[in-house]
Amino acid sequence: MKVSQALRERRSVRAFVDRPVPPALLRELLQQAARAPSSGNLQPWRIHVLQGEALQRFIEHIATRLASDPEPDPADYAVYPQPLQEPYRTSRFEVGEQMYALLGIGREDKPARLDWFARNFRFFEAPCALFFSVDRCMGPGQWADLGMYQQSLMLLLKEHGLDSCPQACWTRYHQSVEAFLQMPAEHMLHCAIAVGYADPEAPVNRLVSQRLPLETFCTFVE
Ligand SMILES: Cc1cc2nc3c(=O)[nH]c(=O)nc-3n(C[C@H](O)[C@H](O)[C@H](O)COP(=O)(O)O)c2cc1C
Repeated sequence: MKVSQALRERRSVRAFVDRPVPPALLRELLQQAARAPSSGNLQPWRIHVLQGEALQRFIEHIATRLASDPEPDPADYAVYPQPLQEPYRTSRFEVGEQMYALLGIGREDKPARLDWFARNFRFFEAPCALFFSVDRCMGPGQWADLGMYQQSLMLLLKEHGLDSCPQACWTRYHQSVEAFLQMPAEHMLHCAIAVGYADPEAPVNRLVSQRLPLETFCTFVE
């Protein structure tokens, strides 16, 4: 598969079939993605992998936490700036509406929207979950490096017939995540990525998010 095809076909997948990710393949792709560039070659990405029984234990751990205390933990970092200004606000709103339209969930149906959102905390039934963190002493440059690793990995996964969904929602419960993973205190959770094989029948997986035209984000200096 060409890089251009992997780029075109990678999408955030939010429904997976019950088929495990081959552990050897996963290890190979996690290593290959480390060819991603990083400023000064710091390679600041840190990853925890959950599959099989460990993943089940984690999901139970989070379910217990959510049942006893659904309030988010004090944020370590703001996933979005508050308030989110235009044109970003509209982009976020539109992709959400596009997704709920595919799911047949109306704007007024708050309980159904919350129910759907809660699926995030089961990784949309994906058989594999990756948690990404970065050392707290690192700055925006290293956070950008982390993103390069993540996209490299998601493209490699696509090349091997696997799908993924990045999930910043886990930062809401970062303390529970960090405790379960016994993450070193000096690491900060960035996000998770759910990994598995897409359910081709699930309407939500028909979502193709929009992209802005080149002129809106690129300036050719004369
Ligand atoms: C860092 C990051 C965090 C994200 N967090 C979530 C999330 O918590 N839940 C979710 O369903 N999608 C999440 N997404 C997926 C975005 O909504 C998605 O990438 C965007 O709408 C573009 O769609 P595409 O990935 O299908 O191209 C996240 C994406 C990124 C890059």
